[in-house]
Amino acid sequence: MGTLKRQLPDVAELISLVKFKVPSTDRRAARLAKAADLWDLRKIAQRRTPTAAFDYVDGAAGREITAKRAREVFDSVELLPRILHGTAHSDLSTSIAGAPSKLPFGIAPTGFTRFMHSEGEIGGSRAAQKAGIPFSLSTMGTRSIEEVAAAAPQGRKWFQLYLWKDREKSKALVERAAKAGFDTLLVTVDTPVAGQRHRDTRNGMKIPPELTLRTFIDASYRPEWWFNFLTTDSLKFASLSDTSADLPTIINSMFDSSLDFDDLKWIRELWKGKLFIKGVLTTEDAAKAKAAGADGLVVSNHGGRQLDRAPIAFEALREVRAEVGEEMEIILDSGIMSGADIVASLCAGADFVLIGRAYLYGLMAGGEQGVTRAIELLAKEVEVAMQLMGAASIGELNARMIRQPRR
Ligand SMILES: Cc1cc2nc3c(=O)[nH]c(=O)nc-3n(C[C@H](O)[C@H](O)[C@H](O)COP(=O)(O)O)c2cc1C
Repeated sequence: MGTLKRQLPDVAELISLVKFKVPSTDRRAARLAKAADLWDLRKIAQRRTPTAAFDYVDGAAGREITAKRAREVFDSVELLPRILHGTAHSDLSTSIAGAPSKLPFGIAPTGFTRFMHSEGEIGGSRAAQKAGIPFSLSTMGTRSIEEVAAAAPQGRKWFQLYLWKDREKSKALVERAAKAGFDTLLVTVDTPVAGQRHRDTRNGMKIPPELTLRTFIDASYRPEWWFNFLTTDSLKFASLSDTSADLPTIINSMFDSSLDFDDLKWIRELWKGKLFIKGVLTTEDAAKAKAAGADGLVVSNHGGRQLDRAPIAFEALREVRAEVGEEMEIILDSGIMSGADIVASLCAGADFVLIGRAYLYGLMAGGEQGVTRAIELLAKEVEVAMQLMGAASIGELNARMIRQPRR
């Protein structure tokens, strides 16, 4: 029996260890609380969302080479720990586009968001308001500029514009956004045509969604999504509801391959708030965007959803930063799935980061509460990484605190 000295179990001690949890009546909260990171939220999202909607978010263009490489690149970055540095507290607040944000990241613009979860942009903007971070509304959003402004009156709101050749339409949207209190305009320029998303083709994904036999089978084990979908108002590009065109016509008119930098200069004259150009990946385009009067850039490959084999945002960042100098603000997105990705990006020269899929996984996993959980998880990861790296503030993060072995 070995050398253990045995005794009778101490019942009182045993009882003190037993912690049977009373099952929570809030099943959504209980489900979300179990998620330890964004990858867990992604799994919950996949279980609860019809395949076509989940893949619309999760997928990317072509063979998804850019999307996969973005993951590999982020995973290859080393964060350097600093020992005995006396960093008891790390302050995660920062400032971007002329105003504060409680965290160094915000929510990226995503189209058709109520397709992912009925709470859509209202859930997203409220969660962002609660966290004190900016929320970006897409031109192709499924809640209007005014609806989002009413849902999150105290939150910082950014508007993402797809520039049309029809300048009157762009002008009307920009004026509405300014009137509704949106403080920053993101002009997305990486969509002269829509990217080829093969998962969507294979899933027969259509906008608006079609109810086929396959959709009904898919529905049978995602009852909550379907109940929400069928009992809320129909999906539409809410800010464009004054146009009489049907959805495919609107989508086709949204992507305009004849746009050039003169169109950008025109928008610059129109918009008095901060103006960021979203979708810059090369030094040449960065220089042109700066010359056109942009206040800042969003270094982004649209989450790998446009040009497959496009450069990885994290790698393009260094060159773009060198081109435009330290003064111009740079936001990075594409591939952010953890606090470590955020910290690495800030160290490499980004002033701020946007989350696209990470936000939508939270939304699909549990509506507004799910987005709050996603923000919470990322914030905690940023905080812990900063403490272990000995950084007391976002401003202290710099390129000497990361290392990226050559690929
Ligand atoms: C489902 C989905 C819809 C999107 N719709 C838009 C859009 O309407 N306008 C836009 O500028 N970017 C759009 N994006 C791109 C995001 O703004 C962002 O650049 C991208 O999601 C960042 O990569 P990540 O998803 O890996 O974080 C969309 C992204 C996703 C996943």
